[in-house]
Order: sequence, then C-alpha cells, then structure tokens
Amino acid sequence: MAGTADAVAAAKRAAGYQAAEIVEDGMVIGLGTGSTVFYAIESLSGRIREGLSIAGVPTSYQTAMRAREYGIPLTTLDDNPVLDLAIDGADQVDPRFRMIKGRGAALTREKCVASAAFRFVVVVDEAKMVKKLGGIVPVETLPFATKTAIAQLRGLGCRPFIREGVKKDGPVITDNGNFIVDCHFEEIADAAGLEAEMAVIPGVIESGLFTRFTGNTTIIVGNEKKCSVLTSPDVVP
Ligand code: A5P
Repeated sequence: MAGTADAVAAAKRAAGYQAAEIVEDGMVIGLGTGSTVFYAIESLSGRIREGLSIAGVPTSYQTAMRAREYGIPLTTLDDNPVLDLAIDGADQVDPRFRMIKGRGAALTREKCVASAAFRFVVVVDEAKMVKKLGGIVPVETLPFATKTAIAQLRGLGCRPFIREGVKKDGPVITDNGNFIVDCHFEEIADAAGLEAEMAVIPGVIESGLFTRFTGNTTIIVGNEKKCSVLTSPDVVP
C-alpha cells in the first residue's frame, strides 16, 4: 500500500489529526492551506462540536471556505495579530526544518500567519521529508513587475516560469491578485541566502522558501501506520 494514493491520504490524515490534538481551548490559530491541513480542519470540527472554543485565521479562500463549511469560527490578523499556533502543510522539509511551500499558491499569507504564531506546526506525509531542498521554489510576484523580477530571479540560477491556470486560461492569479513564478533549481546550495536574495528583488512579494521557522516549530510526519513528531530544541511542549 505504501506510496499509493490511499496510503498518502492516510498519512496526511494521521498528521492532520495529530496536529489538531495540540490545539487547546481558547486558542486563536493559523489555518494553512492544502490537502494535509484539511484533515486538521476536519478533526477540529469534531472537537468544536464537543465544546472546544477556538478561532482560526485562514491563509486562503480555499481554507476560509472549508473552515466555514466545517464550523470553525474565523478571525483576522487585524483582530488577532499574534496567534497561539499555526498549522500548515509543506512541499519539502529538510533535517534542519527549512521548507519549501507554495504548491497551492498560498505562500505569502502562509508566511505571514506562520510569523504571527508563537508555535508553527507543520503537517506532512513522509515523502515530503528530504535530505536537501531542491526543485521548484514558487515565488509570488506583482504582475506589473513580473518580467523584471523574472530576469533577476534567473540571475539567481533558476529557470523561472509563470504558473499557468488549470481550467483557466493564462496565469494563475493568487488570492492577493498576483502571479506565481515557479523557479526551477538544479540545486539549492544555500536556502537561507537564496530566500534573502529573492526577498530584495523589486516585484517579488514573497518566496516559498521558509528557512527562518526553525525555532518553536514542530514537524508532524505521517505515514499510513503512525506519526513521528520532530520538535525544534526551543519548543515549549
Ligand atoms: C499551499 O500554497 C502550500 O504551501 C501547501 O501548504 C503545501 O503545498 C502542502 O500542501 P498539501 O498538504 O496539499 O501537500
């Protein structure tokens, strides 16, 4: 069964459900985007029906719609600029808890919400754990300056492509009204340095490199049988 769609779904479900167990009554939490976080939302929905009182800041329209459907009260960073914790998925996680995110184009709000949270809980299936980050780094760009940003991104050693929609002609438009440039890297030698270099390119809104969430971070790695919980040294249990 390992590697099958059912096994991957079971792994994601195990990780999402375990993350939901960390949530305590009265917390205000960040709700990430994607298929793994969906299971945390599903589990939290059950706990809310049993009396848990929480509010969530969604990182995308997808998550806001799902959270409403599953009865999770929503709030905003305006009303709650500091969050107790944030739960989110990832595309890759390396042994030092550096990550690539943004397959679902929600990376900018995800990074804002993660940075607002005391504790970051990342839920992944085991295939997402890598020895070294590599491949595609999604970058959100301002449409006005995307071509200029692409030229500078190319200078960082990648092959950049504007992400095209599925069931929509032309570029993907993010929830913030911007484009996504998928930057294909043969190798990422210095992920933190690359994140910093991307951040100062005019027209780059945010990159999917998350290299600064290595403290107070918990990675819950699911497989179809169980979860492993990896914690950074400074996590308060
Ligand atoms: C959304 O833009 C992404 O950062 C997701 O959080 C990430 O791609 C993980 O998604 P899955 O849980 O669906 O794999």
